[in-house]
Amino acid sequence: MALIRFPHSGQEERFEFTPENRVELERIIAKYPVRRSALIPALQLAQEQEGFITSAVMQHVAGIFEVSPMEVWGVVSFYTMLKTQPIGEYHVQVCNNLSCALMGAGRLLREIENRLDCRTGHTREDGKFSIEAVECLGACGGAPCVQVNEHYFECVTPEIMNDIFSALEKGETVSPIGADEVVSPALAGAEEADGEGQG
Ligand code: FES
Repeated sequence: MALIRFPHSGQEERFEFTPENRVELERIIAKYPVRRSALIPALQLAQEQEGFITSAVMQHVAGIFEVSPMEVWGVVSFYTMLKTQPIGEYHVQVCNNLSCALMGAGRLLREIENRLDCRTGHTREDGKFSIEAVECLGACGGAPCVQVNEHYFECVTPEIMNDIFSALEKGETVSPIGADEVVSPALAGAEEADGEGQG
């Protein structure tokens, strides 16, 4: 059967799950009452293996779930967590929805682009970082929110992100930052004023 080329997907001709991932896939499928419900986790597993979803991945997965490759493409093209192009070792996703935009996500994104020397929607030449502006990450209370690979960083400033990138560049591990771990400048100002008022 001829390989169908899906828009924006990689050009690899062949894909198969590794024997280990094939076992993992069967374990995942067994968790669902309907086999087809495991389609998204199967694609995530393929992405972990390949780095991104290629045309060959979609056709292979379609065969496993006995659906059409076009149905798989419908899922892949809907979910932004499924990538059809190579991304950086660290994929930086900056939320640009309302709460984050009001809390400075636009400026934050520009600062991140300058810091990483990489434009939004691109991967840096050395393959270390890629940047994407994304829709709501579901952490609006921690706006502005940035996701780096699987970690969330909430209430971040360009300075906080700079420290995170410096650590990643040195090969250090970084921990997620929740909103309650960061004192926003506005809140810090209010607390200072309170303290002065009480003194
Ligand atoms: S608007 Fe940014 S996390 Fe919801």
